[in-house]
Amino acid sequence: MDAIALPQAATEQQTQSKKTVLSGIQSTGILHIGNYIGALSLWAANQSQYNNLFMVANLHTLTVPEAVHPAELRRKSREVAALYVASGIDPNESIIFLQSDVPAHTYLAWILGCCTPVGWLERMTQYKVKAAAQETVGSGLLNYPTLQAADILIYRANYVPVGDDQNQHLEITRDIAQRFNHLFGTYFPLPETLNRRSGARIMGLDDPSQKMSKSIAAKKQGHAIALLDSPDVVKKTIMGGVTDAGGEIRFETASPGVKNLLVLYEVLSGDSQSAIEEHFVGKGYGALKRELVELVVTTLKPIQDKFHALMDDERGLDALLSEGAAKASLIANQTIADVRQLVGV
Ligand code: TYM
Repeated sequence: MDAIALPQAATEQQTQSKKTVLSGIQSTGILHIGNYIGALSLWAANQSQYNNLFMVANLHTLTVPEAVHPAELRRKSREVAALYVASGIDPNESIIFLQSDVPAHTYLAWILGCCTPVGWLERMTQYKVKAAAQETVGSGLLNYPTLQAADILIYRANYVPVGDDQNQHLEITRDIAQRFNHLFGTYFPLPETLNRRSGARIMGLDDPSQKMSKSIAAKKQGHAIALLDSPDVVKKTIMGGVTDAGGEIRFETASPGVKNLLVLYEVLSGDSQSAIEEHFVGKGYGALKRELVELVVTTLKPIQDKFHALMDDERGLDALLSEGAAKASLIANQTIADVRQLVGV
């Protein structure tokens, strides 16, 4: 696995005062291998070197309320948390919680929203795309980035491991932090984005011009490999993946569909690009796809087993989440106390 190195804590002293990592996933749609590669597997790497907080962004899911079914949102939020643990997030090393269980996030989001020019929010690509698809646009959709900034800044996080589609959200988070610091005194550190070198944007298998996405996956078979897909479905999806008329397996010259398969292979195998090219000399796309099926099925099997065990233990998962929320609240409430002082309320 290309466990991309997060910046190393260099000295003994630094290890004692560890840096903070925060990230999250929305509890919408179906979690897929893009979420695993771009985010989850990156979070799982090097957990012991950092103070880690991984939240389920269930309040962000409400920004398109027409798509929300309350019972389903409740169930999905728990499933996403279980998938965190099943993917290797260790509750002893990382705080795992539901965003909605730490109300301080929304308190800080209000204050940060007051510091955020509307023009910054209106320029966000995700806002423009999502708003264009809505008949009625809630102000929550416009304010989505201020809540995300609050998620990060409330823990004064140093690093945010994400896929590259989140980079604009991280840029605006830094802008908002700087604006707050300018208005009320330097308080928030500016968080750094961490993307994988390879695999920061996994594309749809059916259409390599589109990012693999939870919302498309919910509507279209053959687009994504869901983390809970059976081996048969994985096989069908990969074997049906778009390639081209050629047959040579080279990272540099590969067409988008083949490149995507190669990146999946690279990240999941942990092999170097040159070793992969050598391995597939004289073999065609069929061989690449068949070996990728094996690799994906082998990667997903332990995740799925652990996921089902966690979901079977309802009380255990509840306890894990309430403990996570309690630990997160301790940090978040301290930030709110500081911020109240700084802004004068
Ligand atoms: P979300 O739920 O869309 O995606 C969760 C994570 O998965 C990554 N990702 C991908 N990586 C590679 N290839 C893909 N095809 C792919 N699709 C998704 C995303 O980049 C992300 O890391 N706004 C966030 C949730 C959020 C958040 C936060 C993230 C709320 N508050 C604070 C970080 C910090 C979102 O919608 O992610």
